[in-house]
Amino acid sequence: MKLKHIALAFCASLTLSGAAQAAGEIVIKFSHVVAPDTPKGKAAEYFKKLAEQRTHGRVKVQVYPNSQLYKDKEELEALQLGAVQMLAPSLAKFGPLGVKEFEVFDLPYVFDNYDQVNKVMHGPIGKQLLGKLEGKGIKGLAYWDNGFKNFSANKPIKSPADLKGMKIRIQSSKVLEEEMRTLGALPQVMAFSEVYQALQTGVVDGTELEASNLYTSKSYEVQKNLTLTQHGFLGYALIVNKKFWDGLPADVRTQLDSAVQDATVYANQIAKQENEKAVAAIKASGKTQVYTPTPQEREAFKKALLPVHQKMAARIGPELLKAIYKETGFNPAK
Ligand code: LMR
Repeated sequence: MKLKHIALAFCASLTLSGAAQAAGEIVIKFSHVVAPDTPKGKAAEYFKKLAEQRTHGRVKVQVYPNSQLYKDKEELEALQLGAVQMLAPSLAKFGPLGVKEFEVFDLPYVFDNYDQVNKVMHGPIGKQLLGKLEGKGIKGLAYWDNGFKNFSANKPIKSPADLKGMKIRIQSSKVLEEEMRTLGALPQVMAFSEVYQALQTGVVDGTELEASNLYTSKSYEVQKNLTLTQHGFLGYALIVNKKFWDGLPADVRTQLDSAVQDATVYANQIAKQENEKAVAAIKASGKTQVYTPTPQEREAFKKALLPVHQKMAARIGPELLKAIYKETGFNPAK
């Protein structure tokens, strides 16, 4: 959507929120790009329930899933303009906004498990990164998990060489772009809502999605092979328009803060399980062959992708990279 359209939507939303305010109600439009039955979709609905309950109906949360309102890049612009109040974009999507440090989360194999990710997100590093959004008119409230990404294609992917020359859809992150180039693949930045059709029509050959998004977007139906490489993490920042948030009555903000806290616990409880369920459902569909790499194959992917850390250190910030290695115990020499 062009900026002009966002501005029009913004005017419409002003009229709407004006009407809502008159009735004594505060409206939070929460836009997102994935299906309702994903970790993010479910957590957004849970937040809605808690927020409405705890504010005794003073706040009304309208959740718009599946890019109904905006695609990835546009939703961030819409949030900054105030056309929507709340989003949970993946951390890979903050680079184009000028906060490229978030791309550290995209580094291949930097996290082995959810515990390591959560140690970083919920510790001082995560807090410091959220603070960087304030200069963009955005307040970061929390981190929500999704899961580890896998390669999918219409041929078996068992080694890094299998990805050579393939067009792989990525999110708008320079680290992910470098990841693909390092593998000899051709990165194609594309909004999430366009992935299914792009795979179906052959605009791209494959993806690196976590299982829940691959399943709920039905993209697995147009991918014959899925390899559980688990080579990178996909997580979210729950964010709001800062002006809107700061302008809320203090008691409402406190009630919403507690809804955010509990929705975050819920999001992070269900993420792993939702991804495991999605792998099982993809297997059961019989449409996609699911392959688990052997330890040796996993090592080969890791070895091929490690140079991405060095190549992107200057962009992300060498100090930040070192701090993350320290938190996770990652050894770049191995
Ligand atoms: C993607 O674009 O692949 C994901 O960031 C979508 C999402 O929000 O989970």
